[in-house]
Amino acid sequence: MKFIQAVSLLTSITIASNGALAFAAVAEKSCTKATGGAGVHVPIGKDGEGEYTASTKGCFDVINTARPLVLNEIRKQTLRPFGVGSPAYHIADYGTADAGTSIGLMTDMVRAVRERGDCAQEIVVHYEDQLTNEWQSVFNHALGLKAVTDAYGEEIPNPYSLQNVFIEACGVGFHNQCYPSNSIDFGVSFTAMHWLSRFPSSLKGDEKMHAANQAAADWKAILKARSKELVPGGRFVCVNFSKNSDGYFLGQTDAGASMWDSFQSSWDQLKQQGLIDEEERMGVSFPNYYRTKEEFMEAFDDAEVSSQLKVVSIEERVVRCPYRELYTSGKSNRSARQYAEWFTPTTKTWSHSTFKSGLNADRTDEEKESIMSQFWENYMALVEKDPGAHGMDYVHAYIVIEKVE
Ligand SMILES: C[S@@+](CC[C@H](N)C(=O)[O-])C[C@H]1O[C@@H](n2cnc3c(N)ncnc32)[C@H](O)[C@@H]1O
Repeated sequence: MKFIQAVSLLTSITIASNGALAFAAVAEKSCTKATGGAGVHVPIGKDGEGEYTASTKGCFDVINTARPLVLNEIRKQTLRPFGVGSPAYHIADYGTADAGTSIGLMTDMVRAVRERGDCAQEIVVHYEDQLTNEWQSVFNHALGLKAVTDAYGEEIPNPYSLQNVFIEACGVGFHNQCYPSNSIDFGVSFTAMHWLSRFPSSLKGDEKMHAANQAAADWKAILKARSKELVPGGRFVCVNFSKNSDGYFLGQTDAGASMWDSFQSSWDQLKQQGLIDEEERMGVSFPNYYRTKEEFMEAFDDAEVSSQLKVVSIEERVVRCPYRELYTSGKSNRSARQYAEWFTPTTKTWSHSTFKSGLNADRTDEEKESIMSQFWENYMALVEKDPGAHGMDYVHAYIVIEKVE
């Protein structure tokens, strides 16, 4: 039950394994590199397939919830005298994945900037993620080469088609400074900064201290990097997984079964099925941390952070799982099995590589994938038994930050 203790008591998904500790030691040495965090999260699917966006309909709703906050800040922001420095307005999307889920917001942001005056204003959209990201799909989506549809099948317009929009990509992790000082007018980040820059220094013993300390140090590093990159008066809207004041967090709210309990029993079942040993059963380590509102705010006690950045607002919001909502309302028209096959990939996009890395390093990739298929089958069988009880509610803190002028 170590897995669940870590989740429900600490909201810090850190499970000990020898393999994870060995990795932590290596990662510690390299964490100050520009590519800090690389390998902590591995994208799902082949480069160019866009499997993340195709299987992540809930993240569209999370981003849509932030849309009024973002567009309102663009309307209020003091505009730089364009033509001084870079004549373009620079937007950055940190931890973008394949750029599909934020494509509609990027388009609206471009329109909102132009509504402030110059309808042909040059705009640069910078997509940021790890160097191992699915970059081919970023360009497919952002340049409109592959259409993005939302949870309801509607095609979403891309920013590039608005003309005078330039698309750039950056593979430096967001714990580091990614862009030149005073160059970004508006940064956004959705559902990404819960990924730690490395495994906590120890995954044994008092896990809370290790993971919480790592998360606190990472959050400060994130804010210091953004404080350099933003222009004076620039905004950063950070929508991040959190543990809210009701104690809810991703996949564990007042609705239905806990996704983490379901993960645990599906993983344990692999041992009962004779597919994994005890070390592998205990070997899963998620280098994630869901910060509370207080933990987000604590970083602003740091003099370097508070001299540059101020919090405009911070709100907690729960976005219900769109898959479960459509199923329980009868609108999805799916059988119990079809629902299980439709819903589970949204949990798979971000967790598959972490579960897989808990498997013995001696196994071939083929063997690992075969075990993983059984794991997902176990989970789907569980969902199929009581589909309406399974979903992945999103619990986020929506934080609006301004760089002081
Ligand atoms: C759940 S996805 C969110 C994607 C998208 N922003 C959305 O809301 O749908 C999390 C993303 O964070 C990225 N990520 C994790 N650690 C990172 C790091 N250190 N630097 C940059 N991106 C990182 C992952 O690669 C992944 O694409």
